[in-house]
Amino acid sequence: MPRLSQPHLLGIKNITREDIELIFETADNFKEVINRPIKKVPSLRDVTIANVFFENSTRTRLSFELAQKRLSADVINFSASTSSVKKGETLLDTVNNILAMKVDMIVMRHASAGAPHFLSRHIKANIINAGDGTHEHPTQALLDAYSIREKLKSVAGKKVAIIGDILHSRVALSNIFALNKLGAEVTVCGPPTLLPKFISKLGVRVELDLQKALAWCDVANVLRIQLERQQLKYFPSLREYALYYGINRGILDKLKKDIVLMHPGPINRGVELSSDAADSHHSIILDQVENGVAVRMAVMYLLAGAAS
Ligand code: CP
Repeated sequence: MPRLSQPHLLGIKNITREDIELIFETADNFKEVINRPIKKVPSLRDVTIANVFFENSTRTRLSFELAQKRLSADVINFSASTSSVKKGETLLDTVNNILAMKVDMIVMRHASAGAPHFLSRHIKANIINAGDGTHEHPTQALLDAYSIREKLKSVAGKKVAIIGDILHSRVALSNIFALNKLGAEVTVCGPPTLLPKFISKLGVRVELDLQKALAWCDVANVLRIQLERQQLKYFPSLREYALYYGINRGILDKLKKDIVLMHPGPINRGVELSSDAADSHHSIILDQVENGVAVRMAVMYLLAGAAS
């Protein structure tokens, strides 16, 4: 059975290009499966997976749960807001109690960067990072790159602009690692206050002008303004942000070329994307969501049984 080079998926930074290609080839098979009338395979029968979410989620959580059910895994769901975390239980005690119920794999979202890395040093189960603070969101980057590969036939050589709140975005960092490993060219674009100072050291171009970034790219991956992570004011108002960095149908039509428009969700409609752009023929936003199930099936299938 093929395996990833690591027992966990903690980030894109520490997996190889070969791992990513193996995940994509495996996801191709699972995508075929989930488009059949009978969408289920027995691949993870007798594997028990806990989805442990300390932060809100719609897409990632449902996508993981559906992927687990399509693979015939047993699934339990934990939400911090309705758990004994509220009574002061620690992360490690919480996870060790879940593992005592004979759980094989943990899918975790946590507000603290490095939380899944910390767990991986203390527990035996496979861990998948479903988003750790502003650090990484590896399965989002995998499904994003997989969706580019599906739409444009390959990722290598493609020009991808990542636009918006790069500073607070785990999606941006994981995308940069994945796209670099797969041979794409990457430009980040946003207001200077939302671009980390170290960003150009990651092998990306920096462009402050939205029109120039769009004229350059084949793919625009537009990120949400993460107001919940912003303790300071990084721009004068949402209205002004939308004026300088919001993408609408008029801007796309003026490009006179077909770019692919992506967004990891949830969208702030009318801020980073207008509805007439988000719902236009440029958009592959719902294809990303569909592909998320197949990509996550592939990741869990390839990790199962590989606990350190
Ligand atoms: N893209 C993403 O992570 O969305 P959720 O926060 O809804 O899971």
